[in-house]
Amino acid sequence: MIKQLDHDTTLQIAAGEVIERPRSIVKELLENAVDAESTHITIEVERAGVASIRVTDDGLGIKKNNLELALTRYATSKIAHISDLNHILSMGFRGEALASIAAVSKLTLTSKTRQCDTSWTVQVEGGEAINLTPKQAAGLPGTTVTVSDLFFNTPVRKKFLASERTEFQYILENVKRIALAYSDVSFKLIHNDKTHTHLHANMQEKERLSQLIGKEFADACEPIQAHDNDIQLTGWIAKPTYTRSLADQQYVFLNKRFIKDKGLYHAVKRAYHDMLHGNRLPAFVLYLEINPEIVDVNVHPTKEQVRFQHPQPIYQIIKRCIEHKLSATLLAPVSAYPPTKIEPTLTETSPPRVVAPKVSPARANPFINSTIQQESVTVVHKPTQPIPKIITEPKPVMQTIKQSVQHNQTTQMDADIQRPEPLGNAIGQIGHIYVLAENPNGLIVVDMHAAHERILYENLKRSYNDQGIISQALLLPVALSLGADKIECLTENALFFEQLGFQTTELSENQMSVTHVPMLLKDSPINELVEAVINEFIENQDSISQAVNQILSTMACHSAIRAGRQLTLPEMNALLRQIEITSKSKFCNHGRPTWHEINLKTLDSMFKRGQ
Ligand SMILES: Nc1ncnc2c1ncn2[C@@H]1O[C@H](COP(=O)(O)OP(=O)(O)OP(=O)(O)O)[C@@H](O)[C@H]1O
Ligand SMILES: [Mg+2]
Repeated sequence: MIKQLDHDTTLQIAAGEVIERPRSIVKELLENAVDAESTHITIEVERAGVASIRVTDDGLGIKKNNLELALTRYATSKIAHISDLNHILSMGFRGEALASIAAVSKLTLTSKTRQCDTSWTVQVEGGEAINLTPKQAAGLPGTTVTVSDLFFNTPVRKKFLASERTEFQYILENVKRIALAYSDVSFKLIHNDKTHTHLHANMQEKERLSQLIGKEFADACEPIQAHDNDIQLTGWIAKPTYTRSLADQQYVFLNKRFIKDKGLYHAVKRAYHDMLHGNRLPAFVLYLEINPEIVDVNVHPTKEQVRFQHPQPIYQIIKRCIEHKLSATLLAPVSAYPPTKIEPTLTETSPPRVVAPKVSPARANPFINSTIQQESVTVVHKPTQPIPKIITEPKPVMQTIKQSVQHNQTTQMDADIQRPEPLGNAIGQIGHIYVLAENPNGLIVVDMHAAHERILYENLKRSYNDQGIISQALLLPVALSLGADKIECLTENALFFEQLGFQTTELSENQMSVTHVPMLLKDSPINELVEAVINEFIENQDSISQAVNQILSTMACHSAIRAGRQLTLPEMNALLRQIEITSKSKFCNHGRPTWHEINLKTLDSMFKRGQ
């Protein structure tokens, strides 16, 4: 039998969508307070909100004859018509929060407008009018809402509440979200009569971040800023050295509203993709300001989900802006080098560009080799692309650096002197792990493997994306013993491996011969490298782009100069010059730092000089 539910029951069911637990009350009351242009807001909570929650603000207040209306469902001062939602900038607009809270608690609403001399108060219990005739009360301009005995009339919901500790954490999280969005408002949170958090309105932004998210985050974050037509993006992103195992420090605000949007989180994840280790997650606070006409905020009762008319530009601005910040190089990168002219010819599919093997000197400078790809991007191409007509010879790093400086300067002064060298001059190596250099600020310490890994990785990525990885025929092919599955993988995906610079032929049932390897990696341990590449391919087969990135990262890791190798000063200097122009070179592919600067001030304090 179908029966119409009575009024009280429908109210309680509807309230359940908005008021799920004490934190929902705190969220709604704080939103009302900021919508009322308050500058000081106090939140007093007893027993994690189950006993009572009181929010006091110094905002615009509610007129005496509107108090009852404020507690009535679908009564709001924020919109008059559905079309007003197109330009909504207030947090509230449904006109149901106070009614929903009143339906599941005992609520007192006291308010005084700035124009009125008197404060007025009304009361409701479980949605029932107890005293809706306004009574005079004491109070300053603004509004105080007191909510007590939460869920007294819906005991089942009360049973589902977590421990007080957990419920208070939820409340705290909601206070954080509003306080992060309204940095010009002062917030005081009191729990069981003790002040838990006090944020002043005129606090430095970093200090506020430190109080709200933590000192470690505040120390590790950097500001970002970008805009594109109707979209404005500002915020803070943590350096890849500061990561989290949970997505608990990821905040996105849309026109000051905290939102959860998988697409936007994904944009950030993509921007950090080759800078974080394993499953580590980035930490960030992003503020988007978007013309409200192109966003629908009326998607879910909690208003945390929104629908963008055109999500792509927003996704792109976030991804590009963060990528740009993380990729910043110390010096202008390769674009400063004189471009080499290419005249493509219309040829059909051709094999990868192969360079004849050269007998290399007994020990080549690994860092000079690593630039070959970068400086000679014009000579390589993917198998599916036509062969460029002009092939330039790769140039050693010092020669190209000199050229670029001359190219960019009108005078004929010595290029070495003109080119800044932020990482200074190499002075030695310690533990065969770290390279030491001196610059005007002090001492530079470089983890040579981590730095070289990033340089190789960035060069491989750029080559792969631009024209393909240049491959080099091995003077003596290397025999590799492999399981049947790996041999099958190599032969079935021969074209893919060719694009990565590897060519192999089958020798026997369980042996392959490696004939060509990426030129950049020709001095690497071949067997180990090829096997690692196959393993990455097998593990990441589902997504080709992921497989490529993983493989390139593995190639870089296996080929980067290992700890224990002794370097000459020119080799160390070549490494420093490479770091300076390589994107993301402050961190290795796994988010570890590649170099540190220890400035003279720090050294002085270590030795107590000048104290
Ligand atoms: N702290 C406050 N200061 C001034 N006015 C308030 C305050 N709280 C509520 N009001 C008034 O009461 C009305 C009802 O508040 P309520 O939170 O129920 O709805 P809303 O904020 O309009 O929409 P939503 O349900 O989306 O929150 C508001 O529109 C506002 O006019
Ligand atoms: Mg509201």
